[in-house]
Amino acid sequence: MFNRRATLAGAAALALALTLTACGQNSEVSSEGSSEGGTVGIAMPTRASERWLTDGKSLVEDLKGDGYKTELVYGDDDPKAQVSQIGNLIKQGVDALIIAAIDAKSLNGVLQQAADADIPVISYDRLILGTKNVDYYVSFDNEMVGRLEARHIIDKLGLEEGKGPFNIELFAGSPDDNNTKYFFEGSMALLQPFLDSKQLVVPSGQTKLNQVTTLRWDGATAQKRMSGILTEWYGSKQVDAVLSPYDGISRGVLSALTSDGYDSDSKPLPVITGQDAELASVRSIIAGQQSQTVYKDVRLLARAAAEMVDDILTGRTPRIDNTGEYNNGVKVVRAVLLQPTTVDKTNYGVLVSDGYFTADELK
Ligand code: GAL
Repeated sequence: MFNRRATLAGAAALALALTLTACGQNSEVSSEGSSEGGTVGIAMPTRASERWLTDGKSLVEDLKGDGYKTELVYGDDDPKAQVSQIGNLIKQGVDALIIAAIDAKSLNGVLQQAADADIPVISYDRLILGTKNVDYYVSFDNEMVGRLEARHIIDKLGLEEGKGPFNIELFAGSPDDNNTKYFFEGSMALLQPFLDSKQLVVPSGQTKLNQVTTLRWDGATAQKRMSGILTEWYGSKQVDAVLSPYDGISRGVLSALTSDGYDSDSKPLPVITGQDAELASVRSIIAGQQSQTVYKDVRLLARAAAEMVDDILTGRTPRIDNTGEYNNGVKVVRAVLLQPTTVDKTNYGVLVSDGYFTADELK
């Protein structure tokens, strides 16, 4: 079966390469490896954030090491483009698909095509919703990510010692990403008691998820929202903490704050959380601006997805360590969840000891 697939894939790959070249789009697809074990299509959401580049690179390397050929595409945060990229991978005859969705609910149609062609689908990092045609999910414990961010705010402000009241503003991720709700709910589970006791106050009044999302996780969008909040609600008040679910958003928030005179003796920066341990944010943590990030070693995530693909394509049953929790609206998707780590000024050395960054990169 795989030889037949490989031959088909080879012919289709050539056809696709010719089509893409003709359209001048060949830079969007990168093919690597030998197709002996089969070809794996990898659809990543964006090149605008460092982590997804690491995810793509690690998946390609791992799968190549396991004897697979890979076709890696990036959807550049455009859900329609991603659907058409996945459609092309299916036409090309890939043997498996690894997908980090841009819009969790937009893949129903194209994944029916994958199912019709017997192509297993792994939902990568972000759960694909509303379709039965997703076989496995690999991610981090997303609720824990939110809890780690809230824990940092609680500890830094001394909320458990009864300190307060403090002003806080809340930011969440993209409304079309299933992770957004898990991050936010994880954070709010810990923060809500302090909102109830009024040790935490949200001057903008924006506390519901649908009031605090950030479309496509865009830093500039977050910056604009933060500037608007400062202008409209702060006057002589100062913000003491900002819950941010992603480093790109945190840096947008930081820009709004520094433009408003924060990071001075009379206006110290608030506690600002984050996620992904992006280089610019780790440097910002070391410089005392952003206060925390959540480190998810995406090389391990890629490794888990590659092993899963290898298991499926060689007829083994993938190792599953979490069942029952990830319902995509149509079915419970079998999941592997890795553990995230909180990183701040006191322990960022873990990023160097893990080889995620070199000591020089953090200088
Ligand atoms: C989420 C992901 C986060 C972050 C964010 C923005 O789905 O879990 O780690 O990368 O997207 O890219």
